[in-house]
Amino acid sequence: MAAAFGACREEVRGEGCGFRSEDLMDSFEDADNRGLEAEELREASDLEKQKASNAAKNIISILTYYRKHTNRLFCGKRCCIASTAPLSSSLNISLGRIQQSFVLTDPNLPDMPIVYASDAFLSLTGYSRQEVLGRNCRFLNGPGTDVETLQEMKDSIQAEQACSVRVLNYRKDESTFWNLLHISPVRNATGKIAFYVGVQINESSKDGNGLSPEMRQFSAVASVKVAVRSLSACAGPSSRSSS
Ligand SMILES: Cc1cc2nc3c(=O)[nH]c(=O)nc-3n(C[C@H](O)[C@H](O)[C@H](O)COP(=O)(O)O)c2cc1C
Repeated sequence: MAAAFGACREEVRGEGCGFRSEDLMDSFEDADNRGLEAEELREASDLEKQKASNAAKNIISILTYYRKHTNRLFCGKRCCIASTAPLSSSLNISLGRIQQSFVLTDPNLPDMPIVYASDAFLSLTGYSRQEVLGRNCRFLNGPGTDVETLQEMKDSIQAEQACSVRVLNYRKDESTFWNLLHISPVRNATGKIAFYVGVQINESSKDGNGLSPEMRQFSAVASVKVAVRSLSACAGPSSRSSS
């Protein structure tokens, strides 16, 4: 535990996370010291480091998302991120008509959190909407997830390109499924990337009305793009992601 907190603390100190909070650092120091009293000091394993890194990224992602959308600091209680989701109600309604598992993430927020999750995504993964909004999709990864596949996704996102992968994901109850995942940037009416959409298909599911996984992914992505473009065209120059 002490080693995990140590690795977590290093991640928070690191350059990559883009967030430095003295309060958060202090709580890691306290927890670290308590752990040292109770446990023998040892080197953290790669898995522990990965878990600590993911935990730190998730905490930071949720705190920064909450702060950005409420203008308030986190104050001890679990915040209800779902009620502060920034999407317009018209966009929410349009997206709600798409009957597939998908999420939208916002590349203009730190760590690209989920800002919309479809009902089918919640059924597939076993999480509630409140549990997923504000988090990066990496919470679906687990010990058996292939790190090269994760890197492939990361590279494509950084290059602002679409990608399709087959990735082992974990539900809330820790059962696994092979996710045929397609990720694509979604541009608004001015051509800026407003969101990324990720469409998840459970490889072993028989649903799909005879359509291939690629066709189902294509259809969901096309519907999301139409919804975002038509609504951002109506919303005028102050619409999201023009920064
Ligand atoms: C829109 C979108 C949807 C994503 N959906 C999933 C998903 O369903 N399952 C998954 O394992 N990763 C998904 N990812 C990828 C992760 O968010 C993340 O990019 C990946 O874990 C690699 O980054 P990391 O090394 O920082 O964790 C998605 C990414 C985006 C942008």
